[in-house]
Amino acid sequence: MTTPKTPVAEARTAFSDAGPATANPPASPAAAAFAAAYPVRPVPAPGPVDTAPIAATPAALEELDSLWQAVVHETRTRGNDIHLPISLAFAERLCRAYPEADALLVRVATLLHDTGWAHVDETRIISEGFAGDWRKAAIRFEHEKQGCEVARRVLPALGYSEEFVDRVCDIIDGHDTRLVPHSLEDALLRDADRLWRFDHAGIALASSWFGMDPATYTDRLAIEIVPELITQAALDMATADLDRSNALLKTAVIR
Ligand SMILES: [Fe+2]
Ligand SMILES: [Fe+2]
Repeated sequence: MTTPKTPVAEARTAFSDAGPATANPPASPAAAAFAAAYPVRPVPAPGPVDTAPIAATPAALEELDSLWQAVVHETRTRGNDIHLPISLAFAERLCRAYPEADALLVRVATLLHDTGWAHVDETRIISEGFAGDWRKAAIRFEHEKQGCEVARRVLPALGYSEEFVDRVCDIIDGHDTRLVPHSLEDALLRDADRLWRFDHAGIALASSWFGMDPATYTDRLAIEIVPELITQAALDMATADLDRSNALLKTAVIR
């Protein structure tokens, strides 16, 4: 069934940074398997859910420091040096809430997922990547492909197996353009990729990409991004962060 196009729907696709996770029926065997394994949405969290400000629990494990150092160049594009560390901190929290996930896979995929932006035409990132029907924009597919190239370039030299690198690339390839997650690890990356926006640092950076004032931006986070979250843990974190950020930025008054 196709949804009639409305101005609201068009605005929504332009605002989202990653594809809606549950909007369409499963499109592949992997997506169907994930949907069957996790039929309740948002997916309940068997582990602890930490809703404190993300600055309280930075991505702490030093084992990824060499990977960070290998992609410093790629962090200097499109705010990746803000977006990626905050997303990784959220990914680590989500892994504690979902201990059945392969945490190393989630962490490495999250760290690398947007590094491909450094290898596409930078002038097209805002003009194509955040406008119109962005999911079909060639630049979005290109940044996913380039992100896989980065993963294949840096991970083997750091001791990661070919099989592990393939699994990382399976998640990176499609993280924005594929409609549905293929695994719990894929789902946790997708939620972490949204959660960073609710922190005030994410609001400061991402609102500028969309040319929005903070109040307009946080309104749209609540309306459009919260319903896209796949896991209950992410929903709890997003709600707590949104309340804090709205209070901190006085969005009820400055609008
Ligand atoms: Fe992306
Ligand atoms: Fe991202």
